[in-house]
Amino acid sequence: MILTVTPNPSLDRTYEVPSLDRGEVVRATGERVDPGGKGVNVSRAVTAAGRRTVAVLPLGGAPGALVAELLDAQGIEVAPVPIAGATRSNIALAEADGVLTKINAPGPHLTAAEQELLLETVRHQSRDADWIACCGSLPRGLAPSWYAELVARAHATGVRIALDTSGPALLAALRERPDVVKPNAAELAGAVGRPLSTVGDAVKAAEELRAMGAAAVLASLGADGQLLVNEDGAWFGTARVDTVRSNVGAGDSSLAGFLVAGGRGPEALGSAVAHGAAAVQLPGSLMPAPGDLDPAAVTVTADVPLDRVLKEPVS
Ligand SMILES: Nc1ncnc2c1ncn2[C@@H]1O[C@H](COP(=O)(O)OP(=O)(O)OP(=O)(O)O)[C@@H](O)[C@H]1O
Ligand SMILES: [Mg+2]
Repeated sequence: MILTVTPNPSLDRTYEVPSLDRGEVVRATGERVDPGGKGVNVSRAVTAAGRRTVAVLPLGGAPGALVAELLDAQGIEVAPVPIAGATRSNIALAEADGVLTKINAPGPHLTAAEQELLLETVRHQSRDADWIACCGSLPRGLAPSWYAELVARAHATGVRIALDTSGPALLAALRERPDVVKPNAAELAGAVGRPLSTVGDAVKAAEELRAMGAAAVLASLGADGQLLVNEDGAWFGTARVDTVRSNVGAGDSSLAGFLVAGGRGPEALGSAVAHGAAAVQLPGSLMPAPGDLDPAAVTVTADVPLDRVLKEPVS
């Protein structure tokens, strides 16, 4: 079972609009609501892969109730942590030409008691978990060291941790030796405070995160592929992609692919790449089922192309 933790989930409302005109009334031609959050996406991807998952979520108010209801309708088990504040509602404006504008709300403030209940719920739910995937930003009230505390408590009970977050929350958690961290290129560059222009730059940055405490680094580099660096070495994975439809949630799908394949080594990297490639070829934030994967299109090599210039460099 893969337990996911999303400290700041959301109710995502997407409006389809012909085009955006600042200061004008924009009439939507379509509307949809989805449960949102990085760990929620990982749970959706794990479910699509046919594996069991439980999503731990602080939920409050009417938006929180709707998130629980929508996940339940998708067959995703939720371990809710009731909070006094209301779960945030995020707005996305999807223009006809494909441009997506997002407005993300800050979310509720979690009290000290709610923070502790969240940690306690993770502990309780992790008894039959192979992995805990901790994903996304922290809501107001949670110190940057909150994930570090979660990793320390999980390791005390022997559960492995995958962490997909950024900034101070990522840096603080490294000292507790998470089993894998999954930065994208911008998050990796931010963590080491340097730009990335080649695959070799990304390998060096990943090695630095290992030196800071991460046991393994799975770095997703958008269209450039993915990199795995662990105690045994480094591997680079790419996949042939015919048409990119939507990269929303591709990183979350990759992390799910890595974990359902065991969460270690080049074979799991291949699964991460296959899931990321399949996700971008599906519309919206749809997550791939096994039938959507094309393992024959995936290449994983220990001969990492260090000099390869990134198509999507980070300055
Ligand atoms: N344009 C693209 N072409 C081909 N593959 C892509 C493209 N964008 C993403 N991918 C695949 O999906 C993986 C994850 O994408 P990315 O690195 O953008 O994740 P991310 O920024 O963490 O995404 P998110 O957090 O929104 O889910 C990539 O490593 C790659 O395998
Ligand atoms: Mg990501």
